[in-house]
This record gives sequence, structure tokens and C-alpha cells, in this order.
Amino acid sequence: MALLEDQPAGGARQEAKLLALMKPLDVEAFAWQHANDITLDPDTVATLSYMARVELATEVYQRTLCTTRAAHDPYVSAFLGAWLHEELPHGELFTRLLAHQGHAVQDERQTWGMRLTLLRGRVLNTAMARIFRQHFFAVHMAWGAVNEQSTLQGYLELERRTDHPLLRDVLAAIIKQERRHYAFYSTMAKRQLDASAFSRRLTRFALARFWTPVGVGVRPRHEAEAVIRHLFPHGSTTAADIDRRVDDLPGCDGLGLLDKAARRAWAAAA
Ligand SMILES: [Fe+2]
Ligand SMILES: [Fe+2]
Repeated sequence: MALLEDQPAGGARQEAKLLALMKPLDVEAFAWQHANDITLDPDTVATLSYMARVELATEVYQRTLCTTRAAHDPYVSAFLGAWLHEELPHGELFTRLLAHQGHAVQDERQTWGMRLTLLRGRVLNTAMARIFRQHFFAVHMAWGAVNEQSTLQGYLELERRTDHPLLRDVLAAIIKQERRHYAFYSTMAKRQLDASAFSRRLTRFALARFWTPVGVGVRPRHEAEAVIRHLFPHGSTTAADIDRRVDDLPGCDGLGLLDKAARRAWAAAA
């Protein structure tokens, strides 16, 4: 049964509208002749290299999630396909920009480590989906909302800081798409969480107990922590801004996920 079958027409239209706007970026359409106008600083190179690998690994998440109940819903199934086609060019754009600047990003999608991550994710997600059924779907959508919002705020922070003309254009284009990804996940998550107290309890427990910053698992935690220190320096309100968005998800207020991740990242460097 489609998860949206019994939803109000207005809600379904909102998902349809978002889906209609989704289209992969054309990597060739950017002004690559400006890729070397400014030399990127080492912290930006490290952050872009991390994000390139994480964006390219969306395939791992998407294939993992397609094994769950989420993929039975026509909107979600269509979204997961369109989402993958949008995320991969994000990784390709960062990889190409870094290559112009003399930094190679290894494509690790076919490595044994990545295959193991995929297998582990599939087994875990399939088991959880069998046990918790539509409640696990709520966890999945809320998890996606947190990760898309974190990614979006990270890119906004990079865009604010850089004077690199091509990187600004690339980030501006990517940010538009990340906003839509967040809108989709958060809309779906709110609907599922509003509908069930058990979904709210399970989602809160899962996020509090198991959530890790975007990319941990695909990349080592110490790399994620270096990115967090770069994007969320002392005194930055970005982590708190993301946490406030998480607070808006029913049952998820006060988790402070990004605040805790930022504190941990800074403690690791102390
Ligand atoms: Fe992305
Ligand atoms: Fe995204």
C-alpha cells in the first residue's frame, strides 16, 4: 500500500511539485575556465574533498533505502531515484574543481570498504523495516531531514566564506537542490511523526542514540570532526540553527544533535 494513499490531496501535490523541480545539474555548464582563479585554502580543500566523497556515496544510501518500505510509496520511490541523480553531480562538481586545483579525490564506490558499508546498511535497514514497518519509515525521513539540513547549512557557510567565483556558482546551484531535499524529507517526516506517538518515540530514540554527522561511516569520524571544526568554529550559531530545525520535527525537540557533535569535534582537537 502506498504510504501517501490516504493523505490529503494538498499534501500529495506538494510532493509532486517538488519532484517536478528535480533535475540533475549539468557539470559541463559551469565556467571551468575560472577553476584556478583563486587558490583554495587547505581547510576548504579538505572539506570539499570530504563532501565530494560523501555526495558520491549517496548511491550507497539510496540502494540501501530502496530495500525498505519507503520504496513502496510512489512519491518516495520517485524521490529516491531523482535524489540520487541530483546528489551524484554534486560530488562530481567538487571532484572536478579539486582536480583543477591539483587535488585528487579517489572514487571509492567500488572498494571493499564501501561494499561492506552497503551490505551492513542493507541488512540493518531491512531488519529494522521488517520489525518497525511504517514507524521505521518515519525514522528514515527524519534522519534524512537532519542530514539534508546539516549539508545545506554547511554549504551556506562555505558560500558565505569563499571568494572563489566558480565555487560560489557551484555552491549556489547545489544549495537550491539541497533546500528541496530538506523540504521533501522534513515534510514526509512531519506527516509520519504527527500520525503516531510510537513513531515519535522511536525516531527520538534512534536519533539520540545512533545519529552521527553526515558522512560518518562512509568516511572516518576524525575527518567529519575536522569538517565540523572548519564549518562550525567557536562562536558560530550554525549548529544551533540546525538543531532548531530538528526541534520542529514532532517529538524531536531538544535533542541538540549538532551542538553535541560540534562539542565532541572541538574536544577531540583539544
Ligand atoms: Fe548534495
Ligand atoms: Fe541533498
